[in-house]
Amino acid sequence: MPEKNPNEKLWGGRFTEPTDIFVEAFTASVEFDQRLYAQDIAGSIAHATMLNQAGILTNSEKELIITGLQEIKLEIEKGDFQWSVALEDVHMNIEARLTVKIGDTGKKLHTGRSRNDQIATDMRLYLREEIKQIQTGLTRLQTTLVDIAEQEFETILPGYTHLQAAQPVTFGHHMLAWFEMLLRDSERLTDCQKRVNHMPLGSAALAGTTYPIQRDITAKLLGFEHICQNSLDAVSDRDFIIEFNFVAALIMTHLSRFSEELIIWLSQQFDFIELGDNFCTGSSIMPQKKNPDVPELIRGKSARVYGNLTALLTLMKSQPLAYNKDNQEDKEPLFDSIDTIKASLHVFAEMMASLKTKPENMLSAVKKGFSTATDLADYLVIKGIPFRDAHEIVGQAVKRGIDTNRDLSAMSIKELQSFSSVIDEDVFSVLTPEGSCAARNHLGGTSPIQVKAAVAEARNRIRKLSEI
Ligand code: ARG
Repeated sequence: MPEKNPNEKLWGGRFTEPTDIFVEAFTASVEFDQRLYAQDIAGSIAHATMLNQAGILTNSEKELIITGLQEIKLEIEKGDFQWSVALEDVHMNIEARLTVKIGDTGKKLHTGRSRNDQIATDMRLYLREEIKQIQTGLTRLQTTLVDIAEQEFETILPGYTHLQAAQPVTFGHHMLAWFEMLLRDSERLTDCQKRVNHMPLGSAALAGTTYPIQRDITAKLLGFEHICQNSLDAVSDRDFIIEFNFVAALIMTHLSRFSEELIIWLSQQFDFIELGDNFCTGSSIMPQKKNPDVPELIRGKSARVYGNLTALLTLMKSQPLAYNKDNQEDKEPLFDSIDTIKASLHVFAEMMASLKTKPENMLSAVKKGFSTATDLADYLVIKGIPFRDAHEIVGQAVKRGIDTNRDLSAMSIKELQSFSSVIDEDVFSVLTPEGSCAARNHLGGTSPIQVKAAVAEARNRIRKLSEI
């Protein structure tokens, strides 16, 4: 064969005219898919090893290919590798370089495979690793929340419904609510991982290959738990990417809700918490401002992850079997979601570690909101008053409180008895925020005793999940 220009198309045989320069750049993916280089090389090394064991490559050919690929990996990591748009994508860039380095043996690497099963394999290898890292990020944030819960197990703040003070809750209990959401996210990732961990390699372009390949060898070498069972499905399936992106979108939903809460708590009207100066910024015009930019930005970043999910669903909608070039568009949304999630989880954990509560402000908000009104109603019911009547009685007491600008716990026993004669001195133990919280002493309740137990259990649950 005559020597080829190293940038020449690896598929150029049937063409007489060169690719239009604009089309070349338009169809290339190397700018963004080069981040798959390590997975691409790992896949090629496994493929070459299998081809050798199947008698398709000699020992020396296999050795030459593997050494060449390992050297290329180092070149890329040192920044010495020349990526070429003319060579379109990560696969052909690496393969062309291999042939330049080791000669014609390099051309044998692509025996029995196609870029179609190659890219599907690379994406799965890549996502498999990223999922683990994202789970580590989730665990870090969860651990920070559990640490806060442990410290603030008896700090009291108003719990809200409709953003109206509803009932007192402990700050630890509140933090553990976020813990639960994030734990479900992590479980969802574990579940998604089961479907990521299937190997498409061996499906070749779409129909399989005529060579006596042994897919169980490559699967084992690459650590895949399963082998894709249908070659047409294997090269076209992007469900695992969509599924991951859905989980990513839900993680961002949770982080955006949490961010919103922090923003509310940081406002002057609430003033419940303080975040480290390094997580806030000032205003260029208003010197008094300390803006919660980090939670605001995380709240905003949920938008792009939702956008990526929509893009991926739309990308796959109506696509006929099997591989279509459309699929090249799966990469940027996926990479963007991964980057966004990882950065958001990282900064969130750091930011939460800097959080300080302002318990006096929380407590005075509890008292302003009549948040022990339900406790008074429950107290009356225990003393034999039907709940509907109790509700009415407490409503009147609250009205008096509003008119005279006092919490129920600030009223005298005489005054309280004017609403119902069953009220006794013991009422004050339920009217105080502490009494209200302590009384909700059951699994899942807000009492400090339960928070302590939930903290210990949360640590167990994190450990169990990481063992799966
Ligand atoms: N860059 C392509 C992608 O990301 C790789 C597979 C190309 N296959 C093909 N027959 N053009 O999907």
